[in-house]
Amino acid sequence: MKRATRAVVAVLATTATLSFVVQPVQAGGKDQTLRSAAPRDLRIGTAVAGGGHHVDQPYPDPFPNDKPYRQVLAKEFNSASPENQMKWEFIHPERNKYNFGPADAIVRFARDNGQAVRGHTLLWHSQNPAWLNEGTFTEAELRKILKDHITKVVGRYKGKIHQWDVANEIFNENGEYRQENIFIRELGPGIVADAFRWAHQADPKAQLFLNDYGVEWPGVKVDAYETLAKQLLAARVPLHGFASQAHLSMRYGAPDQLAGVLQRFDNLGLKTAITELDVRMDLPEGGVPTAEQLATQATYYKTVLDACLAVDDCNSFTIWGFTDKYSWVPVFFPSEGAATVMWEDFTKKPAYYALRDTLAAARGHGHGHGHGHH
Ligand code: G3I
Repeated sequence: MKRATRAVVAVLATTATLSFVVQPVQAGGKDQTLRSAAPRDLRIGTAVAGGGHHVDQPYPDPFPNDKPYRQVLAKEFNSASPENQMKWEFIHPERNKYNFGPADAIVRFARDNGQAVRGHTLLWHSQNPAWLNEGTFTEAELRKILKDHITKVVGRYKGKIHQWDVANEIFNENGEYRQENIFIRELGPGIVADAFRWAHQADPKAQLFLNDYGVEWPGVKVDAYETLAKQLLAARVPLHGFASQAHLSMRYGAPDQLAGVLQRFDNLGLKTAITELDVRMDLPEGGVPTAEQLATQATYYKTVLDACLAVDDCNSFTIWGFTDKYSWVPVFFPSEGAATVMWEDFTKKPAYYALRDTLAAARGHGHGHGHGHH
């Protein structure tokens, strides 16, 4: 703890970015929030709802319009991840047109509220604009398109982004490179290293991550990431972290091997993070979860948090939305839902209290993980 605290202070002293504002120390008790309960070296984040599936829903875009939502967002979290607003189709809708407004608004909000930002994402197979998916480009053109995009987007937020998901979901379930990824398909897997290099050039202080789902248990996908991480590090590519999204379903059991997975990447000298945690369940008729389901859900959330707390350099823990009002889950999985820690009116579920109490206990025990390699 001591060493970690000193390291954090050093970072605060030398980093002029506003995403590292000191958190006021709050006493425990009823006024505690997730961010105030958390150990000082662990960021507690959420996805910031907007774009994507929200566009088809019968409500206005959440982040700009829902005031109570923004209040909870500011109060409970000290890290924010644009849910869709930094994805290619959103931020780069035409070849010669960028749409920075919505992402700028999130970065500004985060600065005003002492929140770090996780940038999401630069190299992905999904949510790319039609001009990119359907265009005809030479290899040299496509390479330049990717380099220009990364340089421009990462450069715009230089010094304001804590962590970037540089490469998102690049392996399939068999641990093979995803051929749906236009850049990997057309340019070969070596493009992953280039994406990290370009991002690092544009913002040398941002921590650069590999990010995926389906890596919560050991298996071929985790093996593929471990092999890639070793290769990139051996080649001195600026890779800084490995993240588990942790989209969980109660159909598939508790994430009880996650700490072991994270530890394998920590052993390589990488930071680790939880980036998109939610826990969906099959809803009974009537749509209201049982008390037993809610209790199980709370243990899943706690198990993921415990995994992060158990690993030295796991310094960011993000849930993929905090209220069922805006969750992506029922849109993708029609019979499942209730995946977040708050009901639609922002009242709290057992999962919320499980996270808060676990954070408070870790902080109370002088928990000081992270920054061990500095
Ligand atoms: O692009 C089509 C459009 O052509 C069509 O007219 C419209 C009709 O429904 O759908 C559009 O696709 C939507 C897409 O966002 C693009 O905007 C999908 O319906 C919509 O469901 C999708 O939602 C987002 C999803 O990523 C896309 O994969 C969600 O809002 C967002 O929460 C979700 O987030 C991802 C992370 O980025 C990566 N990890 C998994 C996570 C959950 O899927």
